[in-house]
Amino acid sequence: MSIDIRPLDAPERLGTPDAVEFEAYVELTAQVEESVWGHRRFSYEAAELLPEFHDDRYTGRQAFAAWDADRCIGRAEVQWEQSEGARTAEITVGVAAAERRRGIGTALLRRAEVHARSIGREVLTGFSDVPPAGLELAGPRLEAPDGTGSIPAADPGAAFATRHGYRLGQLERVSGLTVTGRFDEFRSLLAERLAARDAASAAYRLVGWIDRAPEELLDSLAVAHASMATDPPAGGITIDEEAWDADRVRAGETLALAGGRTTLVQAAIAPDGAVAGYTELSLPPNSVAVFQWDTIVLGPHRGHRLGMLLKLGNLVRLGETAPERSDIYTWNADENEHMLAINIALGFTPRGMSAEWQRA
Ligand SMILES: CC(C)(COP(=O)(O)OP(=O)(O)OC[C@H]1O[C@@H](n2cnc3c(N)ncnc32)[C@H](O)[C@@H]1OP(=O)(O)O)[C@@H](O)C(=O)NCCC(=O)NCCS
Repeated sequence: MSIDIRPLDAPERLGTPDAVEFEAYVELTAQVEESVWGHRRFSYEAAELLPEFHDDRYTGRQAFAAWDADRCIGRAEVQWEQSEGARTAEITVGVAAAERRRGIGTALLRRAEVHARSIGREVLTGFSDVPPAGLELAGPRLEAPDGTGSIPAADPGAAFATRHGYRLGQLERVSGLTVTGRFDEFRSLLAERLAARDAASAAYRLVGWIDRAPEELLDSLAVAHASMATDPPAGGITIDEEAWDADRVRAGETLALAGGRTTLVQAAIAPDGAVAGYTELSLPPNSVAVFQWDTIVLGPHRGHRLGMLLKLGNLVRLGETAPERSDIYTWNADENEHMLAINIALGFTPRGMSAEWQRA
């Protein structure tokens, strides 16, 4: 049997003969996620992903699929930031559970690495996920340069990455919060926190929206997005600076909407009218899950307890908008004590780890 690895073409539309390979690729990706996590809550649907394949203005993307006749049995994807000066490319590899340890992952990784080099990226990164049971594996452990977390060296993703010359650059803690039945509590907590604000904190106005930001906030929101790329701790991983402007903010909103995702944003506005911080919840279609993506309070505005206010404001909005959603998931650097402290206070609990790798 011969395995064929070739670049994946994104079709114009789903449900057409041209879309069959893309749809098989997305299904294989979901199967790999399920093999790691035991569920598909972190997977994308084809309709969510397709718009991202069609818009490479800000994030470049090239996928490769491994085929055994017409069966998709593996995938690799390269993604890269398009901003001037960007040096990195992120590679994701996955192989169907029944086809592992036959060299398919290696062949896919090599193909992705060649592509990344061909577009001039000299720093290669990637990630692998470790579910709670995987963290308990016996044997030697790998520690990230910062923080106290570790993962077993024998975890399949870790063994594969280290075998290919990647070193562990950072561990992210995956945390989950079940929100069912808690929305009244979030409302009371927000009211208490608002009532207890001191004058410096009360000088910030809280503004929230769904899907599309108010026009007058776009420029300063773009500044906050750019900081989101570089402010959080990065451990031993090289992070590219991202150039953001109002158009990029709008493009991101349009992509989310095109993919069927609802976005809830809570922002704090400084007395001068600029965004001082924001937090984002993303609601994928056909799911009870919610993803807590960006949360940032910009440097000059820290120390006013805005982080917790932002999160509570958005949790209240979630209860008003989508009370049927049951679980929020978030990824934080294991050494990001301030962010983790807020999440733990809200009741988030550990659900596994994501390991970030960088080729040495
Ligand atoms: C990691 C993954 C992509 C490997 O795919 P694969 O096709 O099995 O990989 P290969 O057969 O090319 O393995 C190459 C080498 O990696 C190492 N390796 C891979 N899986 C391993 C495992 N489960 N235990 C120990 N070593 C492993 C071995 O050194 C292996 O060589 P060997 O089989 O000659 O001993 C696959 O297990 C997978 O899809 N896992 C879930 C997704 C994931 O973690 N992706 C991120 C990878 S960074």
